[in-house]
Amino acid sequence: MSLVAVIGIQWGDEGKGKIVDLYSKDANCVVRYQGGSNAGHTVAVGEEVIALHHIPSGILYPNVKCLIGSGVVVDPYVILDEINMLREKGFVQNPAQLAISPLANMIMPYHRWLDVAREQARGERKIGTTGRGVGPAQEDRVGRRGIRMYELLHEERLEAAIAAVVPEKNALLEYYGVKERVSPSVLAAELSHLGKKLTPFIQSVDSLLFQSMARGENVLFEGAQGVLLDLDIGSVPYVTSSNTTAATCLSGAGVMVPHSLDAIIGVSKAYATRVGEGPFPTEQVNEDGSKMREIGGEFGTTTGRARRCGWLDLVALKYAVRVSGCTALAITKIDVLSYFDKIQICTGYRMGDETVSDIPDAMSLTHVQPYYEESPGWKEDLTSARHLKDLPMKARHYIDLIEDFTKCPVVSISVGPRRDQTIERKKPWKL
Ligand code: GDP
Ligand code: IMO
Ligand code: MG
Repeated sequence: MSLVAVIGIQWGDEGKGKIVDLYSKDANCVVRYQGGSNAGHTVAVGEEVIALHHIPSGILYPNVKCLIGSGVVVDPYVILDEINMLREKGFVQNPAQLAISPLANMIMPYHRWLDVAREQARGERKIGTTGRGVGPAQEDRVGRRGIRMYELLHEERLEAAIAAVVPEKNALLEYYGVKERVSPSVLAAELSHLGKKLTPFIQSVDSLLFQSMARGENVLFEGAQGVLLDLDIGSVPYVTSSNTTAATCLSGAGVMVPHSLDAIIGVSKAYATRVGEGPFPTEQVNEDGSKMREIGGEFGTTTGRARRCGWLDLVALKYAVRVSGCTALAITKIDVLSYFDKIQICTGYRMGDETVSDIPDAMSLTHVQPYYEESPGWKEDLTSARHLKDLPMKARHYIDLIEDFTKCPVVSISVGPRRDQTIERKKPWKL
């Protein structure tokens, strides 16, 4: 049995979906354990490009069991659309392929409205959330006011749960000047309609996982967002409302017995992007940044927003590797750098007269001046490279520099969005 986590170690959108899909080939279960519908994980197989928000990126393999743990906030409207989209494309023909924990809290329409309203109220101090209602749903989860998936199975309990929260939600909506109001009867009717369609998928995730582990199977944990967006160790308040390291993968999946992970694979682009507000030391608000956005297709999978782009920041990456305990790295989108005459990489931050290569915490990202090393680009198409030896020497040096700086081995290098466009140096199960 191997337990392997794949997590983002920048600000999200590192290509986790692609890497999880790649490793799912040898997995028995793939599990989402945190985040919610704010995630947008893209999987490209042949001509199909599939965007997933809740459903684990292993779903394209019919014999892989995909689990959504109790740590995920699930939007029943969005997940049903996702399931329908996959079914139309010929996937998830057997409902047993997907299980959603009955213990997972739901994202309600009022959470989405409040998310948008709170952002508007913050004005210039806005966080730049995805507007998916994840923050307000997590508040209710922690406040023990959340309505969970199992309520969908019991009409009367669902109605009572909605009735209990509606007065407060409507008062909040009024406070924020939102025109919508929650009608308990309309919401209950909508949810019970969705519930009937989702019922086959609501199954005890912890017992499925327990059985899988008892059989000695391979389990992949799929992180959402990225370490620098972590609720506690990211640059608060410009973060998401969950812990994004692999630390929560067992509790968020519902594994209540002590286990340790065999590998934690941190996914990073060969450059950097961020969507939403907050510090981004190596951001390039210039021609280089625009070129990365255009060639890398850097537009949000969930919101379509243009992603901010910049050079790879090894100082931030080293911090993320340290705090998340990564044992290996997967580097994606190195093909995008082929279009640059010169490539910069941040190897230090200037703080006064000093240049430092370590930071104590992500709050330090706010006022730093990046120091770059510049090298000539390789200017060669990498998209058909399948072995390390197929890469030009300069690209290999780039990978070596990442390994040396972070002290973490690079086990896969992605040279395009498709499954086959990958240089696999080592399998995660054998690390
Ligand atoms: P995630 O949220 O971490 O799963 O990442 P997203 O799916 O939001 O964004 C990554 C984007 O990059 C997707 O459109 C992927 O198809 C694409 N992608 C992944 N790996 C590569 C790569 O090596 N090269 C290129 N050009 N695109 C890639
Ligand atoms: P994946 O899993 C990139 C960002 C938002 C915003 C902040 C808070 O695809 O990598 P939220 O809606 O979570 O309250 O927004 O977090 N954010 C992401 N950025 N990728 C994601 O997910 C993200 N999920 C949230 O842009 O800055
Ligand atoms: Mg994404």
